[in-house]
Amino acid sequence: MKERKIGILGAGTWGMALARMLTNSGNDVLVWSAIEQEIDNLSAARVHPNLPGMVIPEALRFTKSLEEVCSGKDILLFAVPSVFVRSTAAKARPYIRDGQVIVDVAKGIEPETLFTMTEVLADELGKEDGPKGLRLVALSGPTHAEEVAQDLPTTIVSASPDQTAAELVRDVFTNTCMRVYTNADCKGVELCGAMKNVIALGVGISTGLGYGDNTRAALITRGIAEIARLGVAMGCNLQTFAGLAGIGDLIVTATSRHSRNNRAGFLIGQGRTPEQAVKEVGMVVEGINALPAAMELSERYQVEMPIAKTVNAIVREGMSPADAVRALMDRNPKDETAAGYQDF
Ligand SMILES: NC(=O)c1ccc[n+]([C@@H]2O[C@H](COP(=O)([O-])OP(=O)(O)OC[C@H]3O[C@@H](n4cnc5c(N)ncnc54)[C@H](O)[C@@H]3O)[C@@H](O)[C@H]2O)c1
Repeated sequence: MKERKIGILGAGTWGMALARMLTNSGNDVLVWSAIEQEIDNLSAARVHPNLPGMVIPEALRFTKSLEEVCSGKDILLFAVPSVFVRSTAAKARPYIRDGQVIVDVAKGIEPETLFTMTEVLADELGKEDGPKGLRLVALSGPTHAEEVAQDLPTTIVSASPDQTAAELVRDVFTNTCMRVYTNADCKGVELCGAMKNVIALGVGISTGLGYGDNTRAALITRGIAEIARLGVAMGCNLQTFAGLAGIGDLIVTATSRHSRNNRAGFLIGQGRTPEQAVKEVGMVVEGINALPAAMELSERYQVEMPIAKTVNAIVREGMSPADAVRALMDRNPKDETAAGYQDF
């Protein structure tokens, strides 16, 4: 038995699937949510509304107190959607102690700062009254909560420049259903997690337009090429993009019925407005939230990202999906730099 004390901030589908898994593998797990009603419902019903088949073990405990969820824990897991990571960190900061390992599972780029989520945590928790010597890890990969909730075999990457912290997280999250790999290229891993949602939106749009497997394969392969191009320009390791957090996560997001980005894209391809699609999906669609940062990063690092740009034109500039795809296919290779039209 590993029996680590783990505090989980966020009781959404991912936070709860991991909370159950970690409880069942012998850890002492406490879950907090900003929504008090959610804590009441989960502790009474012992089932999450978006994971109806998953029984919440009796040993898994809940709290409405941020102080309690942070106090005395070996590991704190930030499992709120990316838009709430900074505000949650700001509220938790007074209760976080030196030496605690902070794990982020949210995927996104903060639009105002272009920070990844561990950079947001470093910025917010690193303020004067915060803990010293922050130990931050990003946990990311091809992982749908719905499948982890059923103990289906899953792989994930524990990424941090702090090797001891990455290995601790690897050991704690490893069990018979989850295999954890480590990677020191935290920024590359996080960039993949944020940007794949943009490409998955594009794949969903293509399916919604009635395009087939050829188009999906093209978007996935050329999509990871443009994410990798950006990553290398930002100083990340090219190999990260060929790994689980890179092509692995893009495949799972772009091909699965569980992906809300893929589903939102499908609805847009079928003719819904982006607003209608988000409403119909009923949850945060992080690929849409990531678009401004994707455009800004492409501009700042002078990297061509034609697929992300096309998705942006459809979602944020009102271009018709069919016209946008025609423009994407009609690009003249001679107008682009070598990187833009060479195969990977
Ligand atoms: N769902 C997955 O399969 C999965 C897998 C890997 C990574 N992720 C990432 O994990 C993060 C969370 O995803 P999710 O699917 O659990 O999302 P979700 O939509 O299920 O999360 C909703 C939860 O966010 C919390 N929340 C709502 N409003 C809040 C507020 N104002 N302040 C703080 N917390 C608030 C609540 O606990 C709520 O239940 C995302 O960044 C996602 O990309 C999800």
